[in-house]
Amino acid sequence: MNASIRSPLRSARAHALQGRVGIPGDKSVSHRALIFGAIAVGTTRITGLLEGEDVLHTASALRSLGVPIEREAEASWLVHGVGLGGLAEPEAVLDLGNSGTGARLLMGLVATHPFTSFFTGDESLCRRPMARVTAPLTEMGARFVARDGARLPLAVLGTEDPLPIEYRLPVPSAQVKSAILLAGLGAPGETSVIEPQPTRNHTENMLRHFGATVAVTEGKNGRRVTVGGQPELVASDLTVPGDPSSASFPLVAALVVPGSTLTVTGVGLNPLRTGLFDTLLEMGANLKYENRRVEGGEPIADIVVCGGTLRGTTVPAERAPRMIDEYPILGIAAAFAEGRTVMRGLQELRVKESDRLAAMAHGLEACGVKVAVDGDDFVVEGTGAPPAGGANIAVEFDHRIAMSFLVMGMAARRAMRIDDGATIETSFPGFVALMNGIGGAIEPA
Ligand code: S3P
Repeated sequence: MNASIRSPLRSARAHALQGRVGIPGDKSVSHRALIFGAIAVGTTRITGLLEGEDVLHTASALRSLGVPIEREAEASWLVHGVGLGGLAEPEAVLDLGNSGTGARLLMGLVATHPFTSFFTGDESLCRRPMARVTAPLTEMGARFVARDGARLPLAVLGTEDPLPIEYRLPVPSAQVKSAILLAGLGAPGETSVIEPQPTRNHTENMLRHFGATVAVTEGKNGRRVTVGGQPELVASDLTVPGDPSSASFPLVAALVVPGSTLTVTGVGLNPLRTGLFDTLLEMGANLKYENRRVEGGEPIADIVVCGGTLRGTTVPAERAPRMIDEYPILGIAAAFAEGRTVMRGLQELRVKESDRLAAMAHGLEACGVKVAVDGDDFVVEGTGAPPAGGANIAVEFDHRIAMSFLVMGMAARRAMRIDDGATIETSFPGFVALMNGIGGAIEPA
């Protein structure tokens, strides 16, 4: 039985962590690989696909849209693309589970297809803001039927007559950028997104990989990404790099458990994803990249860490898009560091799978760590000694909160308990087995 599907979980203090482990495929790249494979002409083989629930929900939504998708072997999938414009009106409601990426990207894709589809998700996804995508997609001609605040469940009435737009992102969001670019594929002419702060560029990379024309220019108002509409997308095999966001959990665990040495292999190092590693280096972490190489168009490396003392640092707001999913685990690292860590500009954390700013503040406080939330800034006071721990955390459908506090339990003075480990399956199947394999002590509570 896979322990990671059991809930609740308890994580106790571990001895030095050791080992060399691989991690599951990148979640962002996996969603996009399935989506682009679906609208290309021909069969795309995806190797290293993340088989987490979020990605499986995207696969099943694409099947409902008429795309044959097969699993040939572990992490190896075939997508028999139907070509741009070849999607069919889905009979079933598209249920994206916990996944904001799946929901927002697919809403963009179907917005410029002339049919109606219905979207829903779990309790967490149904609370998350969708106006950030419905607003630009409405400008492109789609219509939406939604409750006040544009939350799921909602209906997308795709347009037969899409308009290309130029859109300046009001929030730094790769999901919103990607939704617009996907919708732009169905429109004639050029669709442009201007992002004041660069966000992860996997959509741009993948558009090129499948043969679309993408232009990226840097200006004083930000980065402009332009896609040419109605391209012929051609099936093209790809390999998914290991997810740097997932890698951050065992890596931080090894940094805070004294005497540890750990290698995580094949981690994606797209520069728009590496903000946490830069921050850990600034905190004095013993972290090295080895065997740097390029796989599937993305830079990857093996990351080697050794446990040791970390010091507090200040993380500027501009870095947030490059490490937006890593603040929960950085909060744990900061709790073990010597001195104050200040993380600025965290407003987007309030609208993730849970309100992560509140979850971190309450959770760390319950572990005996001194914290402060000052507007959108988060301050953690580390003493250099392990925090008390011993808290029971309600994870609120949030996989990263769950994993972060299990890492806390591995090095805190008293064991931690989380109320639901099942949510970890969304992004990191096998998490518990992997952590226990390197020396963790996580078990059903
Ligand atoms: C993602 C973008 C980020 C991130 C999410 C995955 C993506 O969200 O938090 O986990 O794959 O595009 P935003 O773009 O909304 O910040």
